[in-house]
Amino acid sequence: MSETPQVDGPTFAPPEDLAAQANLGPDAYEEAARDRLGFWASAAERLTWTQKWDTVLDWSNPPFAKWFLGGTLNVAYNCVDRHVEAGHGDQVAYHWEGEPGDTRTITYAQLKDEVCKAANALTEMGVQAGDRVAIYLPMIPEAVISMLACARIGAVHMVVFGGFSADALASRITDAGAQVVITSDGGYRRGAPSALKPAVDEAVSRTEGVRKVLVVQRTEQDVDWDDSRDLWWHDVVDRQSTEHEAQSFDAEHPLYIMYTSGTTAKPKGILHTSGGYLAQVSFTHWASFDLKADTDVFWTAADVGWVTGHSYIVYGPLSNRATSVMYEGTPETPHRGRWFELIQKYGVTILYTAPTVIRTFMKWGDEIPAGFDLSTLRLLGSVGEPINPEAWLWYHRNVGGGRCPIVDTWWQTETGGHMINPLPGVTTLVPGSAQRPFPGISAKVVDDEGKELENDSTGLLVLTEPWPSMLRTIWGDDDRYVDTYWSRFGKNTYFAGDGAKKDADGHIWLLGRVDDVMNVSGHRISTTEVESSLVGHPAVAEAAVVGATDPTTGQGIVAFVILRESGTDSGDELVQTLRTHVARDIGPIAKPRQIMVVQELPKTRSGKIMRRLLRDIAENRELGDVTTLTDSSVMNMIKDKLPAAP
Ligand code: WTA
Repeated sequence: MSETPQVDGPTFAPPEDLAAQANLGPDAYEEAARDRLGFWASAAERLTWTQKWDTVLDWSNPPFAKWFLGGTLNVAYNCVDRHVEAGHGDQVAYHWEGEPGDTRTITYAQLKDEVCKAANALTEMGVQAGDRVAIYLPMIPEAVISMLACARIGAVHMVVFGGFSADALASRITDAGAQVVITSDGGYRRGAPSALKPAVDEAVSRTEGVRKVLVVQRTEQDVDWDDSRDLWWHDVVDRQSTEHEAQSFDAEHPLYIMYTSGTTAKPKGILHTSGGYLAQVSFTHWASFDLKADTDVFWTAADVGWVTGHSYIVYGPLSNRATSVMYEGTPETPHRGRWFELIQKYGVTILYTAPTVIRTFMKWGDEIPAGFDLSTLRLLGSVGEPINPEAWLWYHRNVGGGRCPIVDTWWQTETGGHMINPLPGVTTLVPGSAQRPFPGISAKVVDDEGKELENDSTGLLVLTEPWPSMLRTIWGDDDRYVDTYWSRFGKNTYFAGDGAKKDADGHIWLLGRVDDVMNVSGHRISTTEVESSLVGHPAVAEAAVVGATDPTTGQGIVAFVILRESGTDSGDELVQTLRTHVARDIGPIAKPRQIMVVQELPKTRSGKIMRRLLRDIAENRELGDVTTLTDSSVMNMIKDKLPAAP
């Protein structure tokens, strides 16, 4: 957990013109408090249902929730077809921009055709409702098309972020039991083509059950080809009919699995279902961002490989008939003004991104955003980690021109959609605080015994009522679902894993994870996962990993390792080898910022590594990139601090 941020800074009342026309006004809180289920039912009524539900919520067997019981719908129909049928076929769904500068403009009518073709192709490949399809793609339109094609035929998509390794992909394919993988030859990243297909080849060779690999040609790199298994997207999808009748599925039909890090080395497959997920994601997208479908240009600058992309690049915006920007590459390619150039080019009105990017922009300097016309922006969003007031104020001033409300949204892969955030036309903003549960959401800060805390005491964040877009289980592991989220405070209270504080004004401040999960640039990485990768290297006997505060990335990964043989080279070269080993094992996002070779690790009498102590060391000392510590230096420091430990 981080230190409690400053509270007594400036606050920002909603702009009058926005407040006057806001999608959601102040009454929403009262309405939801009066009739919570009725409130969510009216949110669900914004969708098109084939068969309306009988029961809004069945919570008779907590923590296994069923929302909109008896209702049926097709998620893809709600995202695409109904807008075309209502005469909006010519509206742009995505202004897509590739990193090299190539572009594609996709209208709702075109998106419908593409989704239908892909749905027909998947059906031809033998994919049926309930089957799992792995998607491992760069940020290209086919990623969205693939997700929607799955949803359309009731197949369960499992998107794996393109930055993950073959190993990470293989374990997810196996756990989900995916039979088909959709990938591409590669994508563009930092000015160069970067390959994806080789990782799929490797992953598939290590798993059983993958029958077909559908490959989009993006970079035209050479790829290895297995004729019995591999199919080109342009061969199989392009020749399909644009007609496809969408079948309706139960509200609780599985929509997707998204893996996320937990406190053990094995990632958890978070399962989301159809009706409740789409209802909350659609409604929060419309309300939190005050989305006006006819005039806004909306941009979630994140990857579809994360939940932020699923909910607020794909399902939220499309269900609301938004026009979105989708960008393939990194913010600094080919220059550090690329994002601002895109805002100017497409007239972006709403930008949603992560504090780590904002802090990077701060570092690069005010003159970069100042060089572009950002006057179309009217609202900004933040997600993924606590936004420190300094970054908030910089974002407000330098990107938002001092006029755009910033909506700081707290939520998780597990929650599916926004849970704690201000409403742009209602809330007076307090920089650094996510402020208030969204209408219809019940959150509290409690102590270890579950007693509610207020007035600035620091405790744990819990959610005390089920919500429509909540995870339904961990794929294949109901027990782990109950143990992880619903056992600490009983079966009616969801334990989020975040520390929080409620101030005297009732505002909630999120203070970071309280478990062994790190948050690096808004990405969740488990300490145990990195440790198990390190001990998987022949040179390493033992490893302990901590997340240390980092001014740009939020946290940085710091590893302490004990080598197998004394006398093994413990110099820079080995440290670099180990860093690369982890990057290859899990993915570049998990590459430790520092690795320190030590003779011993501080442990409690029961043998548990005292990470808190290691974190102190990692944060208090100015350490070089590849510092090697000896017994005397590290252990003496640790010993000095031991009396304070439990
Ligand atoms: C953190 C991303 C503070 C938090 C949507 C949570 C935040 C984890 C915020 C979930 C925020 C996300 N303020 N912390 N606005 N948003 N977090 O599953 O620790 O990738 O538990 O979902 O990110 O990360 P995940």
